[in-house]
Parts: sequence; C-alpha cells; structure tokens
Amino acid sequence: MAKITIDKKEIEFKPGQTILQVAKENGIKIPHFCWHPGLSISGNCRICLVEIEKFPKLSIACATQAMDGMVVHTKSEKVVKSQNAVMEFLLINHPLDCPICDEAGECKLQDYAYKFSTGQSRFDEEKNHKDKRVPLGPNVMFDQERCISCSRCIRFCDEIAKDPQLTFIQRGEKVTITTFPGKELDNPYSMNVIEICPVGALTSRHFRFRARVWDMSFTDSICIGCSRGCNSTIGVRNNEILRIEPRQNLDVNEYWLCDWGRLNTYKYVNDESLRFKTPIIKTEETEKQIGVAWDEAISKAASELNGAKDILFIASPYSTLEDNYTLKKFAKEIFKSDEVVYIPNIDESFADDLLKKADKTPNSNGLKLLGINPISESHIENLKAGKYKIVYIIGDDISRIPESEKFIKKIDSLIYHLSTKTKNSEYAYVIFPKSTYAEINGTFVNFQNRVQRLKPAVVTLEQERLIGEYSISRLDKFGAQNDTWSHGTRFNARPTWKILASIAKSLGHDFKFENSEEVFMELANTIPQMKGWDYEIVGAKGKNINS
Ligand code: FES
Repeated sequence: MAKITIDKKEIEFKPGQTILQVAKENGIKIPHFCWHPGLSISGNCRICLVEIEKFPKLSIACATQAMDGMVVHTKSEKVVKSQNAVMEFLLINHPLDCPICDEAGECKLQDYAYKFSTGQSRFDEEKNHKDKRVPLGPNVMFDQERCISCSRCIRFCDEIAKDPQLTFIQRGEKVTITTFPGKELDNPYSMNVIEICPVGALTSRHFRFRARVWDMSFTDSICIGCSRGCNSTIGVRNNEILRIEPRQNLDVNEYWLCDWGRLNTYKYVNDESLRFKTPIIKTEETEKQIGVAWDEAISKAASELNGAKDILFIASPYSTLEDNYTLKKFAKEIFKSDEVVYIPNIDESFADDLLKKADKTPNSNGLKLLGINPISESHIENLKAGKYKIVYIIGDDISRIPESEKFIKKIDSLIYHLSTKTKNSEYAYVIFPKSTYAEINGTFVNFQNRVQRLKPAVVTLEQERLIGEYSISRLDKFGAQNDTWSHGTRFNARPTWKILASIAKSLGHDFKFENSEEVFMELANTIPQMKGWDYEIVGAKGKNINS
C-alpha cells in the first residue's frame, strides 16, 4: 500500500485520497474553511496550505492528492507564516463582533483566530462595511460582513439540495452572496447552510439570540419526522429545546437534515398549552374530565380493564420499540389478546430523492419487527359496529383512523397515552401524560432496519425525582449532561412502558422492568436478528438488524 509521511508520521493511504483526508483520518489537524467532506472541493480559502518536500510552493492540502513517498509538513515555519497571513487577510474586513455573534463558541473563524493568527493586524484603514441583517429566506439570516466567501452554502444548494438558489455577486472586497432576483433561499434543505457556514454569516432565524451555546446541553437523538430517522442533536437551555441539528451518520443522513424535520419536531415538546399537567380521568358522576394523581389514574384504568374483553389495542409508529413491545406484552399476557394494530401515516407527496421518506413515522419498521400490523378494514368495521368496548391507544390520535367520527362515541372507554392534546382527547376516559421522544431512553427502527437510540434531552418531573433519589453520577443515565436542565419547566409525564407496567402491576402482573434498557433486552431476545442486544450494542450511530 502507498505511504505518505505527514509531520514525520508514515501513513498508508487509499488511492485518490487528498492530504487533508489522510491527515484527518489519522488525527493530524490541518485547518480548513472551504473544504467540507460532503461537498466538492473549491480550494478558495487557502488556510489549509502545507509544505510538501520537493514542491516549489506551498500546496492546499484539501485539493492535493496524496502520493507514494510524499513528505508533508503541516507545522513548519513556512506553513505557520502562511496560516498567519491567511487569517490576517480574512480578518481585514471582518467586523470582529464575536461578543454579539450567534456563532461565537462554535465558530471556526473564532477558533482559528486563536490558533493560527498572530492576534495583530497591519490594516489600519476603515473596514469595508456591508449589510448586517439580510433575510435570505424564511429560515436563514445573512450577515454580509462576516462572510469569508468560502462558497460552502452555494455548493450545498447546487450539489446537495439540487436547487441552485445562491450565488456570488461583485468582486474583490465587495464580493457577497445573494439569491437570484425575486427568489428566496427556501429549498427543503435550506437550513443546512447554517451549520456548514464556518463563520457567523448564516444563522437560523428561529434560533438567533436565544442562547449562547456554552449555556446549552447537546444530546444525540433521532429525528421523528419520517422513517429515515436522521441522526440529530437536540440543543437545550433551561430544559427547553431551542434547536435541532443534523448529526453525521454516513449510513443514514450523511451530514444533513431537512427543514421540515428540524422545525416541526420539537416545538410541541416545549409547549405548555399543549402538554398535560397531570393524568386525567372522566368522573362517573359528572362525566367531566378532571386532573388527578398518577396512582388514581392507574387504579381507574386498572379497574376499567380488569376482566374486560373486546379491547382494541392501538400501538404507535411514533413510539419506541420499548413502548410498543410493552403494549403487546400487556395485551397478550393480561388479556390473551393479539388485537394490537397501528395507524400508518404514508404521504407520497412528502418524499424526495435526498432524505425525506413517504412514511412520516419514525418506527413503523419497529412495529413490523414486533409483529404488529396496520389497522385493517375489518377492525374499522368492528369499530363502527361498536364491537370494541375499550380502545387502548398509546402515542397516537384515534382521529387518524378513517371515519373515526362514525365510531368515536360508540367506544365506552377510550384510554390514551398522549404527550399533547388531540382533537379527540376530550372523549378519553383516562389520559396518561406520555413522555415525548426527547424525554426518554428508547429505540426506533428506521426504513433501512437500522435500530437507533433516543436519549433524554430534557428532564421530566419524574426524572428530576429519580435524579434526586440517585446520586449525581447517575445524571448521564437520564441524558442531562450539565446544569442546563436545572431551571425551566418540567412536564409531568412518564414513559409509556412504565405506565403500562404500573397498570399491569395493579392487575397482578409484575413485568419487572426497572428501566427502558431492560425492556429493550427482553424484546431483543424475541427478535432472532437482535438476540442478546443491549443499548451498548446499538451504539451512538445505530445498528442494522441485518449486519
Ligand atoms: Fe483548502 Fe479552503 S480548505 S483551500
């Protein structure tokens, strides 16, 4: 195999790799602004210049292919001098406004200014001023003065979104980016330019000025917008989700996330007007819904279910494997019932060729693995005929069943696990406030049959109690990585598997689940491809059941 020497380290490389790629793979850091692993090479920022023996001039590491026997220096005097010069050049007209810049704390230019610049500028003249707040589209704001013209955003629109909405105009120090006349940056992936912008030029119109990043915690998660299950990161401050960003997973979403997923999957988690404050039951006397303590709601559901027949259990493609498995076990072990179904959500108009899938749920493949099928016509006919006295539904809205208005009033007892109010929740006999995907440990199975992990990014009242009961070292178990959860609202919600286990206990069946991983390990043993799996095996980037 061909070998290259970088900073005295001899390294084998694959044909076609650039010096920057070989260095990156081997833990040698070469600064780069315009190069991005998901985009073509433009080679315009020059911060990655390195010295190659026998080459007359410095070369850019991002565009120079590694060659057998090549000897590269990334920290020689010449290289350091060129890095100083590039930084001085890039900062000539930069406003140096880190104290009021949203990117501060996660800005490549800021980091490199510390590492690769001398901290001095010889430029005494007035800086070239440009526009500071230019809305490029509904989601992205542009600060022209901070732009270093790396062209990542332009290349992203051209190459990934396949919608060339951005371009350079002007030349020299006047150069800037813009949309074409009368057009906006509004493609379905437009917000990816925010993360790939290496400076604070492109910022989110939804997140701007809401928090400094060092005051936030970031938790690995999975987008629930469709069955791709894009890997994401949830950013939280004061126990409130402020943003969702893509997390790199080359097997699932590469580096990207669609705007729909990032904007529509978290606001309800924070919304006090939508979330339930307590469990709810319908009183016998007044037939009105009232808020009650958990124990009372659990006894109410248990007494209604005790000895009951004609129950339809509705699982949820929005809920985890753990929740759906527990529902299936609940139906089978206590009621000897296989009548567990789910409501699909297929929307062909939502799908595209990049990430978005027509199945708008994150876990329908998980339900298939558990042997839970979509609701059939005969179930709907039976509902209309009033055959089911009780409908037990977790994490979904019964009004998604076609013609639900024809049978909703025929159900004697509707028992719901819900995170937020729905159209028909007023008919419920009991409502258990269910933790959202951002508040639990659990797993989804995406369209590729890849099992992927959820971790709690925000803390519920119950988790806070558990954190108090256990030691501080257990914090990580609940995903709360620092004290950003110590202020703010906590919702009174519990995971579905836990609520079901509590009701089962009231009915004399001890499921013996202490935490979600125990549920996962039990269910994994019922699926041949997942025998012996635990959360560690699933790992941070998920595991395909066929691998
Ligand atoms: Fe190589 Fe910009 S990263 S020229």
